[in-house]
Amino acid sequence: MSQISIKQEDRVFVLTGAGISAESGLPTFRASDGLWAGFRVEDVCTPDAWRRDPAGVWAFYSARRAQGSKANPNPAHIALAELEAQLPGRYFLCTQNVDNLHDRAGSRNLVHMHGELAKARCERECGRPPVDDRAIYASLDEVGRCSCGGRMRPHIVFFGEIPLEMPRIEREIAESTLMIVIGTSGNVYPAAGFVNWARQSGAQTVYIGPEPPLNASAFTHIVEGKAGEVLPGLFDVQS
Ligand code: APR
Repeated sequence: MSQISIKQEDRVFVLTGAGISAESGLPTFRASDGLWAGFRVEDVCTPDAWRRDPAGVWAFYSARRAQGSKANPNPAHIALAELEAQLPGRYFLCTQNVDNLHDRAGSRNLVHMHGELAKARCERECGRPPVDDRAIYASLDEVGRCSCGGRMRPHIVFFGEIPLEMPRIEREIAESTLMIVIGTSGNVYPAAGFVNWARQSGAQTVYIGPEPPLNASAFTHIVEGKAGEVLPGLFDVQS
């Protein structure tokens, strides 16, 4: 497939994963030198870890904030923001990434289903919205409290928690005619199942990444390559 043709009647749903930020210098999760290497998921990214060791959880996410602050959007993030600008009202981006590289590239109709690194929220789910927080905490004493008294936690969806904005995501998938999935290994649900939902409603489904994902058989097309090299120039938007 040399180009992806987008017709006037198409509605596009894009799902991205850690692979789209790899060329910005952010490690993916499941590469051998990746983000989970050296950490056990249960130690840093579960509700139980937060109850047992909030200092350890904040140490992990503080390190990721430090790393994220040095990264910049790459040509793949920019190509998606440009695609959105060409498809007003017919484009939706769902990212599993907690970095802010899509936002900084100019994507607007965007949902961070696994949360955002640059925000914190009350651990008590007291109903107050997440707040901007880019601090790199050296100890738990520095972490603030909500006005209800709860400790602030990273605005990150831990394993075992329900991803954010699922009703909106489901609606967008049901309405889409073309799903484009970029840089995600197909290991983590519900995101890994979105392609099946799209197929059920008759959409074309394209995967872009250097190797086929676990759920490769569910895609109608696979484009092998690095996102930053493949995405610029990939879309042919018909006017
Ligand atoms: N361009 C596109 N894809 C790439 C690139 C690249 N330059 N480099 C690597 N990839 C692909 C890999 O081939 C792999 O399939 O990115 C994928 C990264 O997979 P994972 O590390 O499993 O990351 P992801 O699928 O986003 O993880 C999903 O799991 O740990 C949780 O909550 C975390 O959001 C995360 C979720």
